[in-house]
Amino acid sequence: MDIKKKNKFRWNKVYSKTDKSDLINKIANFDSFLDEATIADISWSGMYWGDLRHQLKGKKVLELGCGDGLNACIMERLGATVIANDVSDESGKLIQELKNKTACKNIEFLSDDFLNLHFAENDFDYVVGKSFLHHLTEEMESDFFKKILKILKPAGEARFFEPAVNSKVFDYLRYLIPVKGRPSILQKKAFKKWKELDVHPNRNNSSRHYSTFGKRFFNEVIIIPLGCLEKFHRILFTKNFQFNRKLRKLALKSENFLPHFLRSYFARSQTIIYREPKNK
Ligand SMILES: C[S@@+](CC[C@H](N)C(=O)[O-])C[C@H]1O[C@@H](n2cnc3c(N)ncnc32)[C@H](O)[C@@H]1O
Repeated sequence: MDIKKKNKFRWNKVYSKTDKSDLINKIANFDSFLDEATIADISWSGMYWGDLRHQLKGKKVLELGCGDGLNACIMERLGATVIANDVSDESGKLIQELKNKTACKNIEFLSDDFLNLHFAENDFDYVVGKSFLHHLTEEMESDFFKKILKILKPAGEARFFEPAVNSKVFDYLRYLIPVKGRPSILQKKAFKKWKELDVHPNRNNSSRHYSTFGKRFFNEVIIIPLGCLEKFHRILFTKNFQFNRKLRKLALKSENFLPHFLRSYFARSQTIIYREPKNK
């Protein structure tokens, strides 16, 4: 199965079971949801890094890999016109239901492959994705960005929140420890079987890759490493590996005071910001 089909299969299953009332509640209270999420949850903190929250009003945004639609709807509530795209049809059904049951209307879901879709040139202020790029092979990533470059306005920005793999040693150690749904790399047969259905292609997810890659297409590239302390919060900070929001907030805040090389080496995630598309 190719990577796109694997993603479609996996995420259709996930989104068909998504708790819609939780999403509806978050959209209805999007301001208080964002207040909390952007300081406690690494993906929201990364996606809204800087002052994105206050920059979306009146802007046209394309979200790739929009998933359950929550971020697309929140951007719409913040004043943007949103086009949302995902390989999963269940994602489209969720967004339709969110449109029906919330005040979020100024949003359109496009289900086809992004590369097959037609968009006007210089049309978008932002192209964003939350945990999306690492689902593309590097070849797909190049094709996506050739197109993103065309559809972004000259002052447009591409912004992605992605995992960061900046240490081969840590990455190997991570795969040694089995987690729910994924065996250890030492359990060779089981690991091979798991890998056949894995929705992540073998690719480079280092900050260096995203920086070098981005410079092919954009004049300004900013990579913000995230999670060097936050990633330890379950093990170091909590009893019985319990999830602890208070300490997670503290970890996310504190890591800003560490030197960049430490934040980068130990990062678990990163925000990737590309500005000033080339050849405009
Ligand atoms: C990890 S999920 C993230 C979903 C959402 N952005 C979020 O933060 O919850 C990755 C999403 O990318 C989508 N995806 C994967 N490959 C894709 C592709 N080639 N085109 C469009 N969407 C894709 C998946 O269906 C899935 O919804």
